[in-house]
This record gives sequence, structure tokens and C-alpha cells, in this order.
Amino acid sequence: MASVELRNLTKRYGSNAVVDDVSLTVEHGKLVCLLGPSGCGKTTTLRLIAGFVEPSEGEIRVGDRVVSTPANSLPPEKRNMSMIFQSYALWPHMTVAENIVYGLKLRKMDRETIAKKREAILATTKLAPLAQRYPGELSGGQQQRVALARALIVEPETLLLDEPLSNLDANLREEMRFEVRRLHDAYRYTTVYVTHDQSEAMTTADLICVMNAGKIEQAGSPEEIYDRPRSEFVARFIGSSNVIKGKGLDQSHISLADARIRCAGAPITAGAETAVSVRPHEIRLSSTPPQQADNVVPATVIRQVFLGNSRDYMVEVKGGTQLRVVTAADVAIPPGGAVWLQLPPERCRALVG
Ligand SMILES: Nc1ncnc2c1ncn2[C@@H]1O[C@H](COP(=O)(O)OP(=O)(O)OP(=O)(O)O)[C@@H](O)[C@H]1O
Ligand SMILES: [Mg+2]
Repeated sequence: MASVELRNLTKRYGSNAVVDDVSLTVEHGKLVCLLGPSGCGKTTTLRLIAGFVEPSEGEIRVGDRVVSTPANSLPPEKRNMSMIFQSYALWPHMTVAENIVYGLKLRKMDRETIAKKREAILATTKLAPLAQRYPGELSGGQQQRVALARALIVEPETLLLDEPLSNLDANLREEMRFEVRRLHDAYRYTTVYVTHDQSEAMTTADLICVMNAGKIEQAGSPEEIYDRPRSEFVARFIGSSNVIKGKGLDQSHISLADARIRCAGAPITAGAETAVSVRPHEIRLSSTPPQQADNVVPATVIRQVFLGNSRDYMVEVKGGTQLRVVTAADVAIPPGGAVWLQLPPERCRALVG
């Protein structure tokens, strides 16, 4: 069993804490994504887990073994982990098959075992037909699969992936996401996957940790992170939510443009300015006042774009707050037109802080 546990992990460069008091448990066999913008500390966290970087404070455990503390660090090669770096490199003068078994040869495994493992991994990664080619004769996606096969053949307990799909074009990236998940399910190691692409995280992860400035802002299932963002940062980073601000009226209402808006999410403090997230496609927009007038705010269309199967509106409510609204393509109201927005109460999430 190889769960990976980070306890109050901190890494400082000078006085700058680039990983700042991070605690996280990754259960054995789970795939966890570290998701966040450039510079938030994702690679550093992964390098700490791999043992290439030593912590300033806190510790890392694998199973019940402590592998990193500020005083003591188990070397990377003793951790039973494989890491694929942000820029993976294959040996250009070796064939696909030779690249894949390189790690086993280093471990001085006998020829017969090597051949058996090689055939098995070539089959799972669907690389058998390409086994005798050189990296220069492969597409980006095929090279990526070779890098994965090479990391997997040593049967790591833990697989660490640093933006493994960043060199691929959009279509291949999409295909390879499923490949990463399929291989994870086939081998059931513990995977920590670093990405700054939210849809990549949504499609692959059991647990997503959204990172910001060295800290985990929120950890949860893809559904939790998407439907119940806790902070403004998470709401904006995942799915480009509207974040509207209004004065708290009571535990579950804010005031927006003279309307009383009922919200879900964190409890609201009366009198305090409160941020509330609501996604563009969750707002209903109509050109006549709706019969049912709860959570309804009048607004004016600022601009509107036709996107084929939908329309993307920017509207403004009294007081100047602007919101993005996505509607069906046949709802066509020109700029300057009066509209009514209905904000579903369960979709208006009051945010913490
Ligand atoms: N060896 C180092 N010395 C000093 N600062 C460093 C060092 N390594 C990383 N940093 C800084 O730590 C911060 C986090 O870097 P890190 O590489 O972990 O970010 P990241 O989230 O992986 O970003 P990206 O998405 O761009 O790869 C950055 O501000 C970086 O400049
Ligand atoms: Mg990085």
C-alpha cells in the first residue's frame, strides 16, 4: 500500500514560501491533480514528493514510512516512484523498445524477465507496432506514450506526472487524458498529476487540489470543485464564473441592484460585502419579466455574440455590476435591450473570504 501524505509541507527559497504549509493525503490507487496557474508551486510540490527537493518544514510519508523531513530525505531512487518531467526526453538513438526497457536494464534485471515485461507494456500502451521505430519517427502523442510506458515498466508504487500532455495539440491532449486514466486504472498505482488545464483535471482526477500561491485553496472531487467553489479564486479559475458582490442582508440573502437574492453556500453575515459566484449558463435571461419573480434582477444588454449553438451576453444591472450570461442561440436581444435575469438560488454560491 502506498498512500502519499504531505503534512504541513513548506518549501522556502530565501524568504519566499513557494510551497506554504500544504497538507494532503492521497490514498493508495487514487489519481490526484494539482491544478493551478503558473508559478503556484505545482512542480515544486511534485519534486518534494519525488525527493529531488528537501522540505524547509513538515514531512512526507509514503504508507507508514517517513521519506522526507528537513533533516532527513530518502534519495529519489529509493522511493519506488516514477516521475515524468514537464519536458520528457526519450533517447533519440534507441528504438521505442530499447527506450522502454532502459530502467529495467539499469536495475540489472535478467533478459527473460525484461522481455516479458516489455511485451506486456507494449501491448497495454498499444505501442507494439511501433516497437522498432526511433523517437524521431513518432508523432508527439506516440512519444508521450513511450515516456509513459518507460515510467510504468518499473512498476512504481507512485507515478508523478508534471504536465505530461503540454507538448501535444488539442485533439491529442484530449485523447491522451483518457489514456492516462486508463493506464492508471489498469495498474492501480497512486498518481499525482500536475496541470494548469482545468478540463484535463476534470476528466482524469479522483481528487482535484486547486493551488494558489503555494497553498491548496480547495481540495475536492471534480463535481465539488465545479459546483461548490469555496473561494473567489477557485470560482474564477474553474469554469470562469461570474463573481458578483452585494451587501449581506441575512444568513442566506444579499442585495443586488435593489433585489433580494437568495443564495446557497457559505453563511452570509448581515451588513458585510459578500462575493457570490454564479456560472454564465446557469442564469436565465428573458426579454419579458418572468411570472415567478424570485431572485430576478432587471438588466441591460451591453453586448452579445452569436456562437453557433449558443449566445454569449454581457449584461449590466443597476449599480454597474456586469455579468456574463450564456443562452440558447435563438434568444436574440440587441445591445441596449432590456432583459430580466433569473438567478437560481441553489446556483448562487456565497464564497468564503
Ligand atoms: N530553485 C529555485 N529557486 C528559487 N525559486 C524557485 C526555485 N524553483 C522554483 N522557484 C520559484 O517557486 C515558484 C513556484 O515554482 P513552480 O515551478 O513550483 O511553479 P509551477 O506551479 O510548477 O508553475 P508552471 O505552471 O509555470 O510550471 C515560482 O515563483 C518559481 O520562480
Ligand atoms: Mg511547473
